[in-house]
Amino acid sequence: MEWVYIEDIGKYVGKEVEIRGWVYNKRSSGRIRFLLVRDGTGIIQSTAYSKEKDNPIFRAFDELTLESSVIVRGMVKEENRAPGGYELELSEIIPVQIAEDYPITPKEHGVGFLMAHRHLWLRSSKQVAIMKIRHEIIRAIRDFLDIEKKFTLIDAPILTPAACEGTTTLFETDYFGDKAYLSQSGQLYMEAAAMAHGKVYCFGPTFRAEKSKTRRHLMEFWMVEPEIAYYKLDDVIALAEEMIEFIVMRVLERRRKELERLERDINSLEKVKRPFVKISYDEAIELLKKEGFNMEWGDEIGGDEETVLSKKFEKPVIVHRFPALQKAFYMEPDPERPELSLSFDMLAPEGYGEIIGGSERISDYDLLLKRIRENKLPEDAFKWYLDLRKYGSVPHSGFGLGIERTVAWITGVKHVRETIPFPRLLYKIYP
Ligand code: 4AD
Ligand code: MG
Repeated sequence: MEWVYIEDIGKYVGKEVEIRGWVYNKRSSGRIRFLLVRDGTGIIQSTAYSKEKDNPIFRAFDELTLESSVIVRGMVKEENRAPGGYELELSEIIPVQIAEDYPITPKEHGVGFLMAHRHLWLRSSKQVAIMKIRHEIIRAIRDFLDIEKKFTLIDAPILTPAACEGTTTLFETDYFGDKAYLSQSGQLYMEAAAMAHGKVYCFGPTFRAEKSKTRRHLMEFWMVEPEIAYYKLDDVIALAEEMIEFIVMRVLERRRKELERLERDINSLEKVKRPFVKISYDEAIELLKKEGFNMEWGDEIGGDEETVLSKKFEKPVIVHRFPALQKAFYMEPDPERPELSLSFDMLAPEGYGEIIGGSERISDYDLLLKRIRENKLPEDAFKWYLDLRKYGSVPHSGFGLGIERTVAWITGVKHVRETIPFPRLLYKIYP
């Protein structure tokens, strides 16, 4: 008998098949037994009917508990009343392993309990939907950069000798007697690679030892970082817009079932069409003042401010030209107003806030050296980075997109902890 996956079941109507999975739920009604089986690709209702109380299928059915592993065999039927539209008429139930007292039950559990059981929580249907969408988003990003835009993937190192995004959030480790740090961003390495390949990106885990306990912060998160030689700020903003529209449209096209399972408001995702909203930092401050924030020019736009800005518009908002002092050492100053950096953040709508940070990079050797010194960064560790400004330096730009924040927004889940399989949170590294 052929082993098939539930997502393909429609091709087997009228045929006998085998499904290998786990018990999602079960119930009896008189002489009928209903067994809901999930296999990671879907859930199918399988049914057995018998006039006799004692028969092998009923006996196996009685033995099964929630999340027991099971192989079922039977005939595929179309059935409008069944979830998914198909049903299996059981001919055999083969229990594989009986789960005893599965800890996650249909009743409500606290998030602490669920996080402590993350290894099992991953099986719950909402969690499955979130991970399927995460996968779709990652695939969309790769298709966009690889196929649509012909970028070259360049992997950045994880162990690094110096900071990229500020020295306060570094995870330190011993490197044969020297200090090394877990990478905060692959960007600096992408700048080297862009001078070799023109348009490149890296996609990997990045680390921030941030003592932040917000719904937007993880200690370990995944970032995709395109970097393009000869791109100016406006070029890279346009690329970010195109990429976000591509991702959202792809998820709408291929993961509607999962979005519906999560009760995501599809309508607001359908509005994610270019052009997005663009406001300068100056304008953002004025807007926030009108919204009642007690702010002045030079203040940071923090999480609460981002929430308000991103609720004001139906589309993603691009805030550009932040004060140079707020931003990283490598950002190119605005030639018209050197107190500003040629930087941008993209805020996702509906209160989700920053999902992308990017900028044009300093291409002048002397200015970069000055910034490295002003920031008291170790010059030795940045010698190679300065070299890029000595040998064929060009204007160049790039950005970093945080995967988990993007998944949170697109799936509509509140907290990034549900958007990564095994989140690393403040003081929490189990399981
Ligand atoms: O704005 P960030 O810090 O930018 C950089 O690291 C640049 N070097 C990227 C570049 O230009 N190549 O981080 C980029 C994005 C943020 O917009 C956010 O989506 C995500 O990474 N991010 C985090 N996500 C989860 N938890 C954290 N602690 C995050 N910190 C940043
Ligand atoms: Mg940022």
